[in-house]
Amino acid sequence: MAGKQVVCALLWVLAFVVSKAEHGRAASHDFVKADGTSFTVNGEAFYPNGFNAYWLMSKASKPSEMDKVSSVLSQAASYGMTVVRTWAFKDGGYRPLQSSPGVYNEDMFKGLDFVISEAKKYGLHLILSLVNNFKGKRQYVKWALQRGENLSSEDDFYTNYHVKAFYKNHVKTILLRNNTNTGVAYKDDPSIMAWELMNEGRCRSDMSGRTMQTWIEEMAGYVKAIDGEHLLEVGLEGFFGGLDQEQGVIQYDSFTSSRNVGSDFISDNQIHAIDFTTIHVYPDLWIPRADEATQLNFVTDWIHSHTQAADEVLRKPLLVTEFGKTSPSAGCNGVDKVAFYRTAYNVIYKLIMARSACAGGLFWQLLLPGMENLSDGYEIVLSNCSCIANIISRYCRLISSFNRLSLGGFTLTDQ
Ligand SMILES: *[C@@H]1O[C@H](CO)[C@@H](O)[C@H](O)[C@H]1NC(C)=O
Ligand SMILES: *[C@@H]1O[C@H](CO)[C@@H](O)[C@H](O)[C@H]1NC(C)=O
Ligand SMILES: *[C@@H]1O[C@H](CO)[C@@H](O)[C@H](O)[C@H]1NC(C)=O
Ligand SMILES: *[C@@H]1O[C@H](CO)[C@@H](O)[C@H](O)[C@H]1NC(C)=O
Repeated sequence: MAGKQVVCALLWVLAFVVSKAEHGRAASHDFVKADGTSFTVNGEAFYPNGFNAYWLMSKASKPSEMDKVSSVLSQAASYGMTVVRTWAFKDGGYRPLQSSPGVYNEDMFKGLDFVISEAKKYGLHLILSLVNNFKGKRQYVKWALQRGENLSSEDDFYTNYHVKAFYKNHVKTILLRNNTNTGVAYKDDPSIMAWELMNEGRCRSDMSGRTMQTWIEEMAGYVKAIDGEHLLEVGLEGFFGGLDQEQGVIQYDSFTSSRNVGSDFISDNQIHAIDFTTIHVYPDLWIPRADEATQLNFVTDWIHSHTQAADEVLRKPLLVTEFGKTSPSAGCNGVDKVAFYRTAYNVIYKLIMARSACAGGLFWQLLLPGMENLSDGYEIVLSNCSCIANIISRYCRLISSFNRLSLGGFTLTDQ
């Protein structure tokens, strides 16, 4: 065990040295596009890979902590990562971006400005999510209740006229924001790769899927009317639901029939204004009683089945926008967690090599040393997690190395 950790540490140091040498290559900052089942930048293939860090705006808005944003982005770039997914919302609560409908905290907004300008500086693209299913939906409904609306459920978020108007106003405020660091409006900024309608949207009050489908259609149209340039995705975890069953697509996955949450991987992603598909991968959350081997098989099957659906039915790219695992007893150097990372990256990498719709992945979540109070069991602190850091470095470098090649221009090498 001790010997193995030493080897990992050495590999990590080597990876770091190589990364320092490669860092500094000028990155293209034209808009990311979806072309068939591929992402492109300037007509060349783009394979997004990177991390989640929901906390960037909050840290960036505090002068004493904004250096953490620069550190994490520069560290990610040095590992070959190209994309960061983060929140462009903080609705109500402690230090909100939006304290009540249409009322914004300028310090927080300047924090988001900084996140975007720093990402550009380090050659990273951003995926910005516009609301959270969990606390966000509840907060929007609460705001409407406070204004006298008669609402009984968080899922009224999807149907109430006033709540929808609040959400649209937030979308408009974000998209039309002029970045105080760059002078570029968010809607015109190519360092933003995509907008995400909602993190992990669910609507359990209507398992037919129609309520969410209608909301996605309306909101996707709203985003595109303001900003026709950026890509748009829903923010789905990948569950197949009621509308999908009507389409007979449930054959892709047997696990999911017990996981209907009112969203539909196929039907929701078929909406014209949705440019690419997303999945999340959380075996220990979704099948907690399964043994390790079963969980790893699930990871492989889940990514494969959705990639097949993206290739055969949707004809849109697929990005694994969150994948993660806890390792309660051993932290991030636990054997299970290391095996999970190796499996997830290997599946994604092989699917890229097979020229499938699967184009990359973003792990959940990256923290820096000293940020332990944000730990949720899924975090990776690269300097603590030498084995996983080495896996991330190796695969991100491999995946990024395809970016400058034209589509189909690379040859298969066995990794
Ligand atoms: C609120 O709506 C429910 C049905 O959704 C209805 O039964 C109730 O009477 C309404 N209350 C008011 C004050 O309008
Ligand atoms: C952003 O800047 C443009 C050009 O200066 C201006 O027309 C627009 O009103 C500004 N938008 C916002 C939301 O401040
Ligand atoms: C990183 O390692 C330090 C020292 O071993 C430990 O105190 C800290 O809790 C670790 N942080 C995380 C997030 O694992
Ligand atoms: C976490 O620690 C930072 C200081 O490093 C502090 O500013 C922040 O309020 C803490 N957050 C929580 C949720 O305790």
